[in-house]
Order: sequence, then structure tokens, then C-alpha cells
Amino acid sequence: MEPKDIKTEIWTGYRTGVEAAQEKYGADIAYPIAELAEQLPQYLKYADRILYRLGHDDAFNAQVIGFWQQLLRRRGRDGYAPTAIEDLSDYLHAMRLIKDPSELQQMRRAAAIAAEAHNLARTIAQPGMYEYEVQAAIEHLFAKQGGGVAYPSIVASGGNSCILHYVENNQKMGETDLLLIDAGCSVGYYNSDITRTFPVGGTFTPEQKAIYEIVLEAQLAAIDCIAPGIPYNEHHDAAVRVIVEGLLDLGLLVGDIDEIISEEKYKPFYMHKTGHWLGLDVHDVGAYKYGEDWQELAVGNVLTVEPGIYISPYIEPIEGQPEVDPQWHGIGVRIEDDVLVTETGLEILTEAVPKSVAAMER
Ligand code: GLY
Ligand code: MN
Ligand code: MN
Repeated sequence: MEPKDIKTEIWTGYRTGVEAAQEKYGADIAYPIAELAEQLPQYLKYADRILYRLGHDDAFNAQVIGFWQQLLRRRGRDGYAPTAIEDLSDYLHAMRLIKDPSELQQMRRAAAIAAEAHNLARTIAQPGMYEYEVQAAIEHLFAKQGGGVAYPSIVASGGNSCILHYVENNQKMGETDLLLIDAGCSVGYYNSDITRTFPVGGTFTPEQKAIYEIVLEAQLAAIDCIAPGIPYNEHHDAAVRVIVEGLLDLGLLVGDIDEIISEEKYKPFYMHKTGHWLGLDVHDVGAYKYGEDWQELAVGNVLTVEPGIYISPYIEPIEGQPEVDPQWHGIGVRIEDDVLVTETGLEILTEAVPKSVAAMER
């Protein structure tokens, strides 16, 4: 810990200090950080191995390795020193993949606040308003509940909906625009991550509706693949299949479905994965694969399910595929929910935000 120091704290804010650290954070013991080089080797000395997360902080990596080297040099005389260093993340990340009841309480809270914000956003958005006005309403609601943003909110109208990480949020919304809102709340250190897409003027154009319906079907098909024991890739594969089928029906792609999937010809329309682990981080830690084997879903996992279709006005020609008719340009749709794996299958933590065509138009 940095020690208490009123002169510094006046400039840069309160410090917990060494004394309060044990009481406040439940540490067994605390020292001033300046004593690290003196104290840490004494703790490492009697261990068989050092479990340490390499790969984050070069300066601290060098310090830890330096302590280890010191101990190894004295091992012959002292009789003790760790003989291995092992990456901590396999242990820690496996723990973080399974949410315990107290973590789930925070996750549900983060989900409920973000759900309320999305429901509010749909009622206030209207033609002539700026994207940042909707962003402000969402983030105001987060703050009122003691939360903050889980990540920079994406409030993307019209063609902006085709930019995955659009965060400028500075355009005026038009009558026939879609509005894609990807906004999540962070509260009690845990995060939610929700996307909804709806017509600003209250009615989908036929093209917007056609794309929306495919994405919704893909999302429902992906959610259907979630249960304990199912390999992580299955819900993505299910979503891709529904999206490709839909694009074939609309004539946006032509050819054999399996070839289009294996040759990834759909990627200019759907270029990201169907989700990620969610928790203390938005894109949380945890393995998706072990070698060639996909991680199997387990009770207590929380993941997002978020397929989309994006038809950028700047979409590039796809080899062997028809040129995209401009009537489709600027349509970007994503639907994202947060899903908990349970004994019986799943629970959608963000279910309080509707997603039917009718609800999006209402
Ligand atoms: N909002 C970040 C994501 O959906 O992954
Ligand atoms: Mn996400
Ligand atoms: Mn998101």
C-alpha cells in the first residue's frame, strides 16, 4: 500500500494506507509498497513454486523474476527456494468463469439497470433527436442507480449501425433510421452488455424488418444451444447458419449454404463472434478452447449472445456473389442478451428488454 500522506492526498485523493488495508480489504498483513523488495522474497522463499500472472506488467515481471533469481542463487546454502514459476491464470480464470451466488446478485443488478435503460431509450428516441441525447439518458439512469458504463455506449443511427464500435454518438437521427444501442452497466464491479436495434420513426422499412427478423431468429437459435455440457462453439455455428439461410432467402448471398459457411463468404455481413464471457470484465477472462477442444458450458457461466447483420454502405464486393443493392445499405442490426447457464439450461438475465418486431416498433 501507498502509506497515508495528507500532503499528497490533498492533490490526488484519499489513500487507504497501510493500517486500514487489513481491516478494509481483509488482507492478512499489509506493508508499505516501498518495502516490497525486502518483504516479498521472504514469502516466496518457502514456496515450491511461484504462481504468478505473467504478461501484464513488464516492470513487475522483471522484479518478480529478480526476486526468484536471488532465492535460487542462495538455495544451496539456505535449503529453500521455489523451483518453478507457473501462470496463475488457468486457476484464476477457471474460478471467474463460474459465478457464485454473491457474484450473480451483482450480475443481475447490472443486467436489471441496463435493461431499464434500454426500455427508457426506446420511449424517448425520435426523429430529429441526436444520438448523444439518448446516450445521456441511458448513462444518467446508470448513475442514478449507483452504476457507470461497462464500456463506451454505442448509440448508432442509420449507417452508423454498421460500425461495430461506433462511439461518436453525434448524429441527428432520421425518420427512417434504425437505432442500434449497445450499452451496458457496471455496478458492484460486475457488468452487463445489452444491444437492441429499433426503428427511430416507429416502423421498420420492409428491408430493415427482413434483416431484423433474421437476426432475431439467429439469436433465438443460438440461445437454444445453451446448456451445461454443450461446447462453446455450437451457439455461434447455429447463429451463422440461420444468418446465411436468411441472406440466401433474400438473395443477398447465392450458392450452397455449406460452401458459403466453410468459405466464410458471409463474413462481410457478419464479421464477429456470437458472444463472449461476461463478468468482472465485459469481455471477461476464461478459455474458449483447450487445444482444439471447445470449452463446455457449465452451470454458473455467464455469456453474451449477440449475432448481427451489417450491410455497410461501403460493403466490398464478395467474390462470386451478387453486388448488394443500395436499398439494403446502412442497415445494421444486432441483438444482444446476457445468459446464465443453469442446471436446467439457461436463464436470460436481460429478459426484461423485449425484442420482438412488435415491441421494437411500439
Ligand atoms: N459492447 C461490447 C460487446 O458487445 O462485446
Ligand atoms: Mn458483447
Ligand atoms: Mn455489447
